[in-house]
Amino acid sequence: MSRAASGTTIRSLSLIDGLVLTLLNEESGYFRQVPGWNLHCAVMGAALGELSLRSRIDTDMDSLILLDPTPTGDPALDPVLDKIAAESVQRNAQFWIERLAPDAESIIDMTLDRLVGLKILQHHEGEFWSLVGSAWRSGMQTGSDVGTAVEHVKTRISRAIFDNEIPDPRDIIIVCLIDTCDVLRFIFDLDEESEQRVKDICRMDLIGRAIADAVGQNIAGQLLRQSALSRPIPVVPLRKLVRSKHLRSGNVPALFAELQQEFGPVFEIRPPFMDNMIFLAGPDINHWVHRNGRMYLRARDYLEDFEKVYGGVGLLPALDGADHFRYRKSIQPAYSRTRLLDQMGDLFSYTRSELAKWKVGESRPLTTACRTLVNAAMSPITVGIESQDVRGDMHKFKERALKTHVGRTLPKFMLKTPGMRRRARLVDEITERVLNVHTRAQRAGLPADLADDLLTMHTNDRQFLPESNLRFVLSAPLIASMYVGDQLAFIVYAMLTQPDFYDKIRGEADALFADGDPDREAITGSGTDVTRRFIMECMRLYPIVPMSVRNVMNACEVEGCELSEGRRVFIAQTATHYMADLFPDPLTFDIDRYEAPRNEHVGTRYAPYGLGTHSCLGARLTEMYMMTNLLMMVHYFRIDIASRKAKLKIDPFPSMSPSKKLKLVVSEKRRELPA
Ligand code: HEM
Repeated sequence: MSRAASGTTIRSLSLIDGLVLTLLNEESGYFRQVPGWNLHCAVMGAALGELSLRSRIDTDMDSLILLDPTPTGDPALDPVLDKIAAESVQRNAQFWIERLAPDAESIIDMTLDRLVGLKILQHHEGEFWSLVGSAWRSGMQTGSDVGTAVEHVKTRISRAIFDNEIPDPRDIIIVCLIDTCDVLRFIFDLDEESEQRVKDICRMDLIGRAIADAVGQNIAGQLLRQSALSRPIPVVPLRKLVRSKHLRSGNVPALFAELQQEFGPVFEIRPPFMDNMIFLAGPDINHWVHRNGRMYLRARDYLEDFEKVYGGVGLLPALDGADHFRYRKSIQPAYSRTRLLDQMGDLFSYTRSELAKWKVGESRPLTTACRTLVNAAMSPITVGIESQDVRGDMHKFKERALKTHVGRTLPKFMLKTPGMRRRARLVDEITERVLNVHTRAQRAGLPADLADDLLTMHTNDRQFLPESNLRFVLSAPLIASMYVGDQLAFIVYAMLTQPDFYDKIRGEADALFADGDPDREAITGSGTDVTRRFIMECMRLYPIVPMSVRNVMNACEVEGCELSEGRRVFIAQTATHYMADLFPDPLTFDIDRYEAPRNEHVGTRYAPYGLGTHSCLGARLTEMYMMTNLLMMVHYFRIDIASRKAKLKIDPFPSMSPSKKLKLVVSEKRRELPA
């Protein structure tokens, strides 16, 4: 045992730790591109190697013998040892790697968690990992060397390859495994001589060779088996679709939950006059997308045309791999909840100014009222401008662009009508407005907003964030207010049609604002617990972004079905919200789901903000906006919904929103709005 500089106690790394760290690509925040099955075989190879180094098993080319069943105390290794001990027939390493490979995913999860616990790795939202530089850099003592954990393993391996140093047995096994997966050449610059040296290293250790061979045989075997084993993707008959009550009401997640129950996690829909569509749905799909999506699925293709509408290329949602990780890391602070909490005063006052325009007796279309309310604060807080005069046009333009260029539910020329051309020009106007107020002199002394961060990124690296992308990124908050507004509209509808909840939320609001505007502790604390869980339940039942679109970039087998390279897939990540085994009695509105011990939202089954690398960066701040808007609405007004008994109709495209026909009625002003 040794102590890291930060005081963290560390132990020597296992082979699995070493393999995971060597495969970690710091630039992309995840492993080097090792196809899933190969990675799983390599991880199990490392587990067997570690058991062998700890004298629990012995293995050669033909057999694997149990030497000592005593547990090692390592939770990643002991289940493997137990399985080997429980087998009565003697098997070889190839057999065990194939048998155990399905467990590799949980071993990887455990290893990543442990490395995070040891402060070697840092976990970022969106399932990215990077090295913790400061805590570790001076901590890992390796004889005379001090270096980061990854440098430590990699330095030893590179010395063995390039300086002919004698490698230790652990490093030999890692070299063998990584070479078998064919990623060594991405980690080191190998010439002919060093490739020969790698071959020599792999021959140095019998165990390493035996395990690497076993991994290699499994990898090759899988390639041959893959297409033979995969089953055809079931096709949903169109009559089935049109009869679905969920399709008629526009409830996309409920529709896909229903189809998943009948057709399984992968199914195809063949709509007339459109390309065939492959859908993925269910808990295993969600887990796979969250963890492994980045290896097989690409975001760029489906957004390519849409980006052009705004004149941009390489916008955040359309990036993949290392570029995407870099962009996300740079811009993350601008979307943080902490930054918004520092500006709560502004959020309250902008929201109040908009609410002051509400007149008793008037009725407003619900979605428009909510979009306008959200935009009143979001636009000045994030990009420093008022934009209520163009909000409606900007939202219409984005909706049309999504319908023509992403959903393809309208022909492309529909974005070229005179009205849409005029709206397209407004995007330039908004960009100008933002640039005009973001001169150095005007921003002096003000807290940085999103536009400041984007413009700094642009100044620092004009290739990475070029001028051509500014139109989109600087006008995006006006688009985001459309999403938040629509989600808020569902929430308001759910509250107004359930009077008991309305009373409770109003109770929380009145207590919160009783002595003036609340501070950040009060608004995030237990006094808003019902409101918070109420919002969560609304986002389960009415998630406005119910699915994500991707293109398959590496052919893969998912839940027994082969997805060929180039196919477009629709990931219905919120179908799980309507599955009874995950959310019991899914049609019942129940906010206690989110309390311990039930915690039904934990894991990947609850996904209103998406999954994996592209999951929503604005999630935490969105929650703050929605909560503040809702609480202030009911604190200052008594509101109602026109025709409360009417069934909720949902417009499903391009994202889900309550039917535009729903009207919000302002029945009473409960108190004056302070200026
Ligand atoms: C209720 C409101 C919102 C919902 C339901 C929502 C949902 C989502 C979802 C599902 C994704 C993933 C899309 C995909 O995988 O293709 C996403 C991505 C994203 N969202 Fe949100 N969002 C909301 C509001 C916001 C707001 C207010 C902001 C910023 C001000 C924001 C910023 C982003 C960004 C930057 C991404 C792309 C992240 C990336 O590609 O790495 N979102 N959102």
